[in-house]
Amino acid sequence: MKEKSLAAALLDKLETFLQEQNFGDSPKELYEPITYILNLGGKRIRPLLSLMAYSLYKNDLEKMLGPAAAIEVFHNFTLMHDDIMDEAPLRRGQATVHEKWNTNVAILSGDVMLVKAYDLLLQTEAKHLPEALRLFNKTAAEVCEGQQFDMNFESEEVVAAGDYIQMIRLKTAVLLGLSLQLGAVLAEASPEDAQKLYDFGVNIGIGFQLKDDLLDVFADQSKFGKQVGGDIIANKKTYLLIKALELAKGSDAEELKYWLSKKEFDKEKKVNAVKSLYERLGIKALTEAKMNEYFEEGFRQFNSIQFKQAEYFNELRQITQDLIHREK
Ligand code: IPE
Ligand code: IPE
Ligand code: MG
Ligand code: MG
Ligand code: MG
Repeated sequence: MKEKSLAAALLDKLETFLQEQNFGDSPKELYEPITYILNLGGKRIRPLLSLMAYSLYKNDLEKMLGPAAAIEVFHNFTLMHDDIMDEAPLRRGQATVHEKWNTNVAILSGDVMLVKAYDLLLQTEAKHLPEALRLFNKTAAEVCEGQQFDMNFESEEVVAAGDYIQMIRLKTAVLLGLSLQLGAVLAEASPEDAQKLYDFGVNIGIGFQLKDDLLDVFADQSKFGKQVGGDIIANKKTYLLIKALELAKGSDAEELKYWLSKKEFDKEKKVNAVKSLYERLGIKALTEAKMNEYFEEGFRQFNSIQFKQAEYFNELRQITQDLIHREK
């Protein structure tokens, strides 16, 4: 029998820990969506990064479970509200909370999830709690900033590629950075290593969101778990669309403008038309090249970490490399 990977063992512990939490019972409309979204089958990549980063330096993993779970609960709170903002019908292959219940339920249940994330963060060792809170709060505010830029960009005709990268750095990448950094800080790694892990996380986080944007157009619906084409329907200024706007000429440019300005449309027709344009313009390869740049920069920073337990180091690299080829 194949021995269980280090990551699988950490994820088992995290899962047991999460299942032991009692977030609350009454009123059920407030608390059921929390259990629902947390058990939909997320990848748990952020808490895994935290636990792996911690394990690079220390073995008493129990101390990292609360803070790692805090990050996962925070992430799921952002998804619950993101799905309202993006009018998304599907999350991890099931109905989104605002569809299954209603928007007000998703707002309030999301709010209390944020509070529950702080409860979990309180389990941080007392001497590290102020620093953990400071880092967590900085990141949480940045995620909101990124989410607002993302929405602002929907109605802007032109968005520069640099502004898009800054937007995804905020809405997505800094949370992957924090996940690694918090693991390192709580394990009392050197400040240099903690910073390198943060920078590594931010770079692979940018790559991670570029991949998410690619999957939103090109994924296999049965594997993806979200509505394929959602970003096209909402005129999200993803790297794909920004490049297409830059490269489309003549009738292609007109067709793209037509779909972007149309207020009422058949969703499937718009998604198919824009996807065909992307294919004609070679957008997939361009976006993959950009994604690879960020992953490679991240791995350069990762390789310069000083102290590390080799087996965790190698597996952490493998886990993050696998994100490039994920199908959901
Ligand atoms: C989705 O995150 C939101 C993004 C930042 C792209 P994940 O792809 O990690 O979603 P789950 O938690 O695995 O479902
Ligand atoms: C969401 O980006 C990032 C956050 C939730 C902060 P997306 O809107 O692309 O995420 P998905 O695709 O819905 O998971
Ligand atoms: Mg979304
Ligand atoms: Mg969104
Ligand atoms: Mg997406």
